[in-house]
Amino acid sequence: MAVLKVKDNIFAVSTIDWDRRLFDQLIPLPHGTSYNAFVIRASEKTVLVDTSYPPRTEEFLSNLEELNVEKIDYIVINHCEQDHSGALPKVLEKYPDAQVLASAKCKELLMSHLWIPEEKITAVDNTTQIQLGDKTLTFMISPWVHWPDTMFTYVPEDKIIFTTDFTGSHLATSDLFVRDECLVYESAKRYYAEIMMPFRAQVKKYTEQLANMVKEGKLEIIAPSHGPLYDKPEFILDAYRDWSADEPKKEVIIPYVSMYNSTGKMVDYLTNKLMEKGIKVTPFNLTQTDLGELAVSLVDASTMIVGMPMVLMGPHPAAVYAATIVNALRPRLKYVSVIGSYGWAVQQGEKMDEQIKAFIPNLKAECLTSVFAKGLPTEETFKKLDMLVEEVAAKNIS
Ligand code: FEO
Repeated sequence: MAVLKVKDNIFAVSTIDWDRRLFDQLIPLPHGTSYNAFVIRASEKTVLVDTSYPPRTEEFLSNLEELNVEKIDYIVINHCEQDHSGALPKVLEKYPDAQVLASAKCKELLMSHLWIPEEKITAVDNTTQIQLGDKTLTFMISPWVHWPDTMFTYVPEDKIIFTTDFTGSHLATSDLFVRDECLVYESAKRYYAEIMMPFRAQVKKYTEQLANMVKEGKLEIIAPSHGPLYDKPEFILDAYRDWSADEPKKEVIIPYVSMYNSTGKMVDYLTNKLMEKGIKVTPFNLTQTDLGELAVSLVDASTMIVGMPMVLMGPHPAAVYAATIVNALRPRLKYVSVIGSYGWAVQQGEKMDEQIKAFIPNLKAECLTSVFAKGLPTEETFKKLDMLVEEVAAKNIS
């Protein structure tokens, strides 16, 4: 990537991964991603904020060459995950005099994950100030967005804060700052859903801290470590406030899998009946859907109805996988129901209900009526689905 000027004497030396399509061997990346890093050239010291993902190390080092960075005094590592710190060993080989600055937890992790020698790393905290001449580095230790080591680095003279993953988006773009708000909103929401949603309490806290800094005239640029930077911080802070608020929206999602269309018929019936009631509902066929889209829908949904057939004497593994992911993401869901089809005996439906719910212990959701059919849904099944629709409607129409 080209080296781009962020502010006077602050440069983005980020690497853009236009082609990457999977993160952590789990998260789909429809728009690629970037690993943002920055060089701060103050009057007396030069600082590198974060590095890059190991496969992009050469490109990253050539960015530093392009900027003629001959000496680095400090390397700030805001978060140890290797998409940001992975190039650090090579950077330290090239700049052996640089001192690494990190939170105490990040220091510990850099030593165990990357074998960075202890004496190379200085632990910083909320009281640390590093004088660089005409600029100052200060730090906000901000654990659990999304690791215990995460911190933000703030330069008061430039009113810029480097927030590592917080407010990021997996979006490869040539825009240094947000210019296409619709595209960034969708990408940032997807990123929030996949990475930040399990840590909603911390997200709320840091969102308010940054919003207060904006109100007090102390913050003009938020620079996360993925995707474009925000030169209108309210855009992302308002979105974060909405996504992390206590109350979900009145929306229903139906993640489901069907083998011979018995569960499929039940899902179609439910979807149509909820639509007729004016309730926003989205079915997700788990054999077709992008898991990220399901995650995004969980940011707003109040109600989840999981649908599946019995296979191999238990709930279909695709539904178990989805339930496991939903449980890990800890969405704001308030109501849950299970529907599906079984093969031989009514106890199989009851067992599937119990088994699938055992995969979502993190959800603080009220269980609504579950509905199961032996083979194809019958008139009696549809009557029970009508009752479920009434129950869902009572919870979702104010
Ligand atoms: Fe982008 Fe948690 O690393």
